[in-house]
Amino acid sequence: MLSYQHGFHAGNFADVHKHWVVSRLLEHLCAKPKGWNWYETHAGRGRYDLTGDQARKTGEWQHGIGRLWSERARAPDVFGAYLDVLDALNPGGELKCYPGSPLLAAHRSHPGRELVLCELHPQEFSQLRHAMKPFTHCHLHHRDGFEGVSAVVPPKSGRGAVLVDPSYEHKDDFTRIPRWADAVLGRWRQALIAIWYPVLERPHHRDLLMGLKAQGIRNVWRSELIRPAEEDPSQRMRGSGMIVVNPPWKLADEIEQGWDWLATRLSVDRAHSTASEMWIPE
Ligand SMILES: C[S@@+](CC[C@H](N)C(=O)[O-])C[C@H]1O[C@@H](n2cnc3c(N)ncnc32)[C@H](O)[C@@H]1O
Repeated sequence: MLSYQHGFHAGNFADVHKHWVVSRLLEHLCAKPKGWNWYETHAGRGRYDLTGDQARKTGEWQHGIGRLWSERARAPDVFGAYLDVLDALNPGGELKCYPGSPLLAAHRSHPGRELVLCELHPQEFSQLRHAMKPFTHCHLHHRDGFEGVSAVVPPKSGRGAVLVDPSYEHKDDFTRIPRWADAVLGRWRQALIAIWYPVLERPHHRDLLMGLKAQGIRNVWRSELIRPAEEDPSQRMRGSGMIVVNPPWKLADEIEQGWDWLATRLSVDRAHSTASEMWIPE
């Protein structure tokens, strides 16, 4: 049974961290005049209404994108691609709509740059179909994302990226992802694989990290954004983690360039956070 709905959390601090990295990966793919494919195992609904019931119930976005929005004119250049999509979605200047990862990618799509998006939840899938309607280069699959993406990679061009962004409702996702990533890399060695994970009080996420090492996956970059305890009254999710296998060489520098600005806005615990590190070298 799928109960998770991202609408309660859209635009929170973890989304900001994840989507900023996603936007840098998309810019990297677009830097060469060549085609690419963007795959998502867990797409969500693509577009989120920050004035709707779910967002209002938690108010999480106010501690995430809400803290960046009024200061976006002073944001470092490395936030440009991410914030441009937000500006396009909120033409009046009032923040009402937040892009999910599929919409960030769709804004960079055109012929030869294709999206393959998997989503299993029936209502989320139906909303995703609606959100993606204006974009013609999207292929939507109402199916398990691990199976769905495995079935269609590698792309003919060999260029592209996979975003793996489960809700971790099933604790075995932490152990499944390393095996799954290893199988994908077995068929598509240069695959750029981005994996978001929650940094939890109970350290289930360590199974994911240790699993990647145990599979022998190399060339892994990591960024972890941890909040001080008082920013997390539930004490469940301390922080947000992003892993990128086969990262673009400029990624580390770009994240370093924007980190201080982001950390200040989001009250990040710098002593325990890792802006950017090559976690498992080549
Ligand atoms: C964290 S949300 C995705 C958010 C999205 N990537 C974004 O950043 O905008 C996780 C989504 O995965 C979906 N989901 C859960 N299990 C799935 C599975 N096995 N295959 C595909 N989607 C799944 C959930 O319904 C939920 O919409």
